[in-house]
Parts: sequence; structure tokens; C-alpha cells
Amino acid sequence: MPILEREPPKGRRESYVLPKVPVPPLKQTLDMYLSCMKHLVKEEQYQKTKAIVVKFGEPGGTGELLQKKLLERSDKTYNWVYDYWLEDMYLNQRLALPVNSNPAMVFPKQNFKDRKDSLRFAAHLITGVLEYKERIDTRVLPVDFARGQLAGTPLCMKQYYRLFNTYRLPGHKRDTLVIHKPGSTEQEHIIVACKNQFFVLDLVVNKKKLKEMDILTQLEKIVKMAENSEERQPPFGLLTSDGRTEWAQAREVLIKDSVNRESLAVIEKCLCVLCLDNPSGMEVGDTSRALLMLHGGGHEKMGANRWYDKPMQFIVGEDGVCGTVCEHSPFEGIVLVACTEYLMKFMTGSPSKMGRATSVSELPTPARLLWKTTPHIQDLLKASAERLQRLVRDLDMDVHKFEVYGKEFIKKQKMSPDAYIQVALQLAFYRCNGRLVSTYESASIRRFHEGRVDNIRSATSEALAFVKAMTDEKDSEKMKQLWDAINAQTNYTITAITGLGIDNHLLGLREIAQELKMERPEIFTDETYVASNQFILSTSQVPTTVEMFCCYGPVVPNGYGCCYNPQSDHLLFSVTSFHGSTETCSAVFIKALDEGLVEMRDLCRKSNKPQSIN
Ligand code: COA
Repeated sequence: MPILEREPPKGRRESYVLPKVPVPPLKQTLDMYLSCMKHLVKEEQYQKTKAIVVKFGEPGGTGELLQKKLLERSDKTYNWVYDYWLEDMYLNQRLALPVNSNPAMVFPKQNFKDRKDSLRFAAHLITGVLEYKERIDTRVLPVDFARGQLAGTPLCMKQYYRLFNTYRLPGHKRDTLVIHKPGSTEQEHIIVACKNQFFVLDLVVNKKKLKEMDILTQLEKIVKMAENSEERQPPFGLLTSDGRTEWAQAREVLIKDSVNRESLAVIEKCLCVLCLDNPSGMEVGDTSRALLMLHGGGHEKMGANRWYDKPMQFIVGEDGVCGTVCEHSPFEGIVLVACTEYLMKFMTGSPSKMGRATSVSELPTPARLLWKTTPHIQDLLKASAERLQRLVRDLDMDVHKFEVYGKEFIKKQKMSPDAYIQVALQLAFYRCNGRLVSTYESASIRRFHEGRVDNIRSATSEALAFVKAMTDEKDSEKMKQLWDAINAQTNYTITAITGLGIDNHLLGLREIAQELKMERPEIFTDETYVASNQFILSTSQVPTTVEMFCCYGPVVPNGYGCCYNPQSDHLLFSVTSFHGSTETCSAVFIKALDEGLVEMRDLCRKSNKPQSIN
């Protein structure tokens, strides 16, 4: 039976106790909120907001009441913000998962000799997945410790326990994150997608775990079965690429039939999905590989060869395009990196164990999942295909390797590389749009029990002063402003990773007011609050130690998604936006970023020269 996880994991527990996420002091959050927004809205609007915020925070006011309730909630729960955050960030969101929500990890391009070679890779990958899953189930994964700012503290490991045993079930108003018991016997299969068909690959047959050779044999059978056009089923995976409400409605139609019900039940319990892709026909570069991971190229390419609700979905393309696309609600990119890096090291470090074939002939043929269609369901499939196509056409993606320098140069300036990159992103945005906007940078709060993320609001007033100075000030002034911007960004980072960010706190106050059935306090209906949550720039650092990169889409129609991977001697950026917006263009943003990073380096170099030479 699926369970909704509330308890700490049973079995071997980590030998440390993590603190609870704190509830920040009310006044601190309200002051920070005002200073974050002052320079991002018009003066008149700011004055209006200030009056609303002061009233909210006055002694005996609504803010104090809600804060008291939040503190009570914190006493009673492991993590006062977890459920609020999960629903607000993911489960309540109605947009389609591909591009809008699911991040992707792009593996190094493989050079397969032929289809069989790609299947060997896939069988080895799944063997690695099973080995990793075993480590999760037996709780032998080493505990992560924080690196970078405030390094050394242990981090919460719970996200790892949701990598393979979760499923995002669509709902009419809100989705549900279903969590199966770790190691459940119901979860001894994976789903293999091939030519838009779905097959069940049982990993345990006659109580024996399949060996890598057996997995390969089963994959070969699947590929053959998928080619049989007489038995071909409609591309039901498309429905999962649709808006969440549309998919929930379609699912309700589907489950009226027992055949569909059974197929859905098998998919919803699988460990992961393995998508065996045909060659896409696209020129294979970083950007096209990223696109294929994010949306599969639409229904005419690989977009229907997916099941987007499943958190772990591995893609192995015959043309060597490989990676994962993930449903984001159970875990963050950092945990995904740890898992996929393990797999990449497994793939390159451990030879494929194809030597001895065991009882291959006894293995039952993998079952093809069957679907019952009606003209109505055909229409739903068509509508989903069209909407996915629109998303595919709209996504403007650019993956860029900035090779002039990397994080080692920034460290030598005694600056935080992350803060420096964030300031560079602000500079690029300002140069493209002549203003700064609400910016999201994910800050991990895994230092706390069940901690996920809070937001670093990188569009600081110091960043604004710096980007303005870069246009019309002397070098000495520019350098001072750069330092101020870096320091402000670094301080905000420390505030957020120590659980004192404002976004989670404001969300908590808003949600607890709703629970108390209060009229929504004005602070949360105010124009400034609405603007503060429109993340036109949505950014995230996802560093890797092996050659791969992460990418995701923008979170608003006129916004940018920017995922970056700082390396010693280069910085990798995956920038996304929508063609439909006249305010954005990924290539233009990248160009401004590139130029700004060079100018910032030159500024640092000039400013660090001894005075006599200057
Ligand atoms: N001088 C010299 N070196 C410095 C420095 C300074 N002033 N400040 C930092 N550094 C060093 C750090 O020691 C660190 O060294 P390391 O590479 O040897 O570990 C390195 O520079 C990186 O530090 P920094 O750039 O400050 O960033 P960080 O690693 O602390 O990361 C966040 C900051 C916000 C990205 C991080 O705390 C975080 O939350 N990451 C998770 C993001 C996330 O969840 N992403 C996925 C979302 S789906």
C-alpha cells in the first residue's frame, strides 16, 4: 500500500539528529521583504506596501497572531513548512510537467555502434540503478555534509529515500505525491518505453533477481515486440505531458475501463522508467540533447515515449543521447546529481557483467501494457499531443560553456563563486531589460530535518547599484559596488541556508491564515507580493563532478530559467525562455552574460593591480 510519509525512515537511522527548520522572527522577515522589494517596484507602490506591512506587523496585529500559530505548528511537526512548500511549489501547480517543472540531467554523449550497443548500455545502467537502490533500501548511503558556505554540517538524507518509490498522481485541483514503502515487493519492476509502447520488465523472476545479461535479453525482446505494428497501442504517455488538470480529467475517463486501470497501476508502482529512444534526427549538440531530455521533441519525435509523472525516468537514445528527466516534487537537483554521478561512475568504472547467461530461456516475455481507447480518448490524446507540440515550439534553449575562466579565478579574488555568478546574471538581465526583477535562487535547507529549499532573492539593491555603475561609473566605483553586491548576495545566502529566508516564512504565514479560515491578509493580495512571486529570473546552481549538466524551463511566460554548473576553469549555463515572449531571448541573454563576465574579470584584474602600476 502506498503511504504518505510523515515518520522518520524506519530501519537504520542516521546517527545524528538534525535541528528543525526555524521560524524566523516576524519583524526580521517583514523588514527583509521591504528591502528586497523597495527597488523592484514603483515608489508609490512601495509606499502602499510599506503601510500594509507595518499594519500587518504591529503589536497585537494579524502578523503576530499568525506567527504564534506558526510557532505552535513548528512545535507539533517535524518541519512546519514542508507540506505548505510541497503543495505551493509543486502539487498545486497546474502547468504541464515537461519544461515547466521537470528538470533534466544530460549525460555525456555516447557513441553506440548499433542498437544492441545502446541496449547493453541500458542494461548496465539499470544494473547500476538496482545497486544504488539497494544502498538506499539498506540505508548504507554515506551521509552528505555541507560544502561551500558554512561547510561541514550533516545534511538531511530523506530526499534519497524518495528517488525510486514515489509517484506524482494528477488531481483535479491538487496532485498527490504517493510514496511506496521502501523495498516494497510491489516495486520489483521497471517500465520500459519503446516506440511509445510501455512494457513491464520484472526484475525478480522465480524469486531470483535478474542479472545484467537477463536484463539485456529482456530489453532485446522488448525492442522486437515494439516493432510489431499489429500490436501497437496508442501513445498514452502523451497524456502525462499535459496540464495537470487535463491529465487528471483524462485519467478519470481512462480508469473506467479495467484494462486501463491495470496498466496505470503497474506504471504507478514501478521503480523507474527506461525510455529507449529512436534516433531523433536532430543534430546532436548540447542544446538539442537538453531539449530532447526536457520534452522529447514533441509527439513526432520522442515526446510520447515518456511517462512524465514518474520521478526517475532514464533515457537511452540509439543515437547516444542519454540522460534523465525527473518529476521534481520528491527531491532536489543536488540529490539527483549524487544519484546520477554514482551511475555514471558505475558505468565507466565497473565492467559490464555480460559473461554468463543464466536461465535466459526461462524468462517470461515482458508484458506489453494494453490500453482501451474510445473516440473520446483518441480526442484527448490528440489534444495532449497538440499542447505538447506548442510547448516544444515555444521553448527557446541555449546551453553555453563560458570558457574564459571558472570558479578558481573567482576564488582567487576572495569572492564566493556562486555570489559572483548571481551578480553576473543580474548584470546580464539588466543589460537586456534595463531593470531588475524578482529572482529566485534555490538555497538548500537540508541542514534541517526534512529540509528542502528556500529562496535567495538575488536582485538585491546592491546588485542594482552595481549593474548601474557598470554603465556609467569609474572603475574604482564599479569595484566598490561589485564588492557590495557580492557581500549582500553572500549574506543573503547564509541567511537562507540557515533557515531564515523570507519566502518560506511568508508562505507559512499565508497558509496558516487560510487554515484559520481568515480572510487573506492584505499583505498577500498586495501587488508587490504578487510581483515578488513572479520569478522572471529563476536560477539554480547544480554543480557536477562528472561530465554532465542539468537544465530546466522558465517558471513564468516572460521569464528565464538559468541553471549553472561552475567548474574550476569554465562555467556552464543552460538558459531557457519562451519564444512567445517579446521580452526574452536566450541567445541575447547568453551574449550579455558572456560579455558581463569578461568585463567583471577585467574589472577585478585592474583593481587588483598594485597602485603604482595603475
Ligand atoms: N573566497 C574564496 N573562496 C570562496 C569564497 C571566498 N570569499 N567564498 C566561497 N568560496 C569557496 C567555497 O569554500 C567553495 O569551495 P569548494 O569548491 O572547495 O567547496 C566554493 O568557493 C563554492 O562556494 P560558493 O560559491 O560560495 O557556493 P556554495 O557552494 O556555498 O553554494 C548555494 C551556494 C546557495 C548554491 C548552496 O548553498 C546551495 O544551497 N546549493 C543547493 C542549490 C540547489 O538546491 N540546487 C538544486 C535546486 S533543484
